[in-house]
Amino acid sequence: MEELPEGLQFRMESPVGPRMRIDGREVSYFSGTSYHTLHGHPVVIDAAIKALQAFGLGSGTHAAISVYEEAEAAVCAHFRCEKAISVASGYLSMMTLLSALRDDYDIIFADERCHFSVKDALICSQKPVVLFRHRDPGDLSDQMARHLGEGQVPHVVTDGVFSSTGALAPLDRYAHLLKSYSYGMLCVDDSHGVGVLGATGRGTLEHFGVEGENAHSAGTLSKAFGGFGGIIPASKVLAKKIAATGAIAGASFVPIPAAAGAAAGLRLFMKDQTILQALRGNVEQMRKGFRSLGLSVPETPVPIFTIQADVDLRRVNKALRDANIIVKYMKAGGYADAPPVETLRVAVFSSHSHGQIDELVSVLRKHL
Ligand SMILES: Cc1ncc(COP(=O)(O)O)c(C=O)c1O
Repeated sequence: MEELPEGLQFRMESPVGPRMRIDGREVSYFSGTSYHTLHGHPVVIDAAIKALQAFGLGSGTHAAISVYEEAEAAVCAHFRCEKAISVASGYLSMMTLLSALRDDYDIIFADERCHFSVKDALICSQKPVVLFRHRDPGDLSDQMARHLGEGQVPHVVTDGVFSSTGALAPLDRYAHLLKSYSYGMLCVDDSHGVGVLGATGRGTLEHFGVEGENAHSAGTLSKAFGGFGGIIPASKVLAKKIAATGAIAGASFVPIPAAAGAAAGLRLFMKDQTILQALRGNVEQMRKGFRSLGLSVPETPVPIFTIQADVDLRRVNKALRDANIIVKYMKAGGYADAPPVETLRVAVFSSHSHGQIDELVSVLRKHL
């Protein structure tokens, strides 16, 4: 077997898709975060190529370029916001947001298993930080009561969808708790929620019906929308605060083909209502299949499934590989939110066929 760079489990040899080429074989691909496989969509690839030919890889300075304006317009149209802030990567979205809002809150209360990018953003915020137990509104309530002084403003920070387990943060409960504190705010790293959750795919805030001026999401174009780069849907007021941080003026814009690809991906997503419907249908089919194997699966529309079982999961992963099916093996505690036991992470896409899902479940049935 070929030696791969540290931390990587396979070599991709084609654009991402429900069927693709990995390690020299045609496989069914159930891994990663391209939930609609838009990164590999011919329209996205074509848009990126045309923009690359027209404007080059990057501008080498800050200048108005139609590609960026089209990407911003697409994000504004999708999120129904006044401004769409683009940052160099999703990793920087929360950092930018927390710094921009620095004067508006006193203490951050953050989920203890939030993503690496959120943990780094907490440090950069230079504000007091209290961690609360993973997805636990009761502990959040206790911590807020214990730490907040008279008139102090809390800021609750969490992932919307936790990336390795697919667990959802109970944002409705958090928003309810924040009602007791005037001006309390909620910021969500929604990298895995945008384009996936909510009736129109605006993400976890939409899913829980908690959108509003005190709730913000830090997102990415690098996953469901098939592009690359961080996004913060913003009001004009928030956009001004972000501009004052230097995060925009002090960094190069995302590469031109990436912005063009993201705009094309978003437009495809917005135009075609069947994409989200197909994802919901596939999540439902996968959930039924996994439950038929005796696995416990929560009743949510999140397309990330975790397999925990009393068997050697490396062996199960190998058996799936032998059947040309790719999922992700996660070692115990091997990622920001990963549980302390080994798991398999399975992602289902809107573009998977029912036959592919059935096949995955039937191979798992033989080996779990
Ligand atoms: C929860 C979460 N936040 C942020 C990021 C970073 O996003 P990007 O890959 O767009 O930089 C990731 C991706 O790996 C993530 O899973």
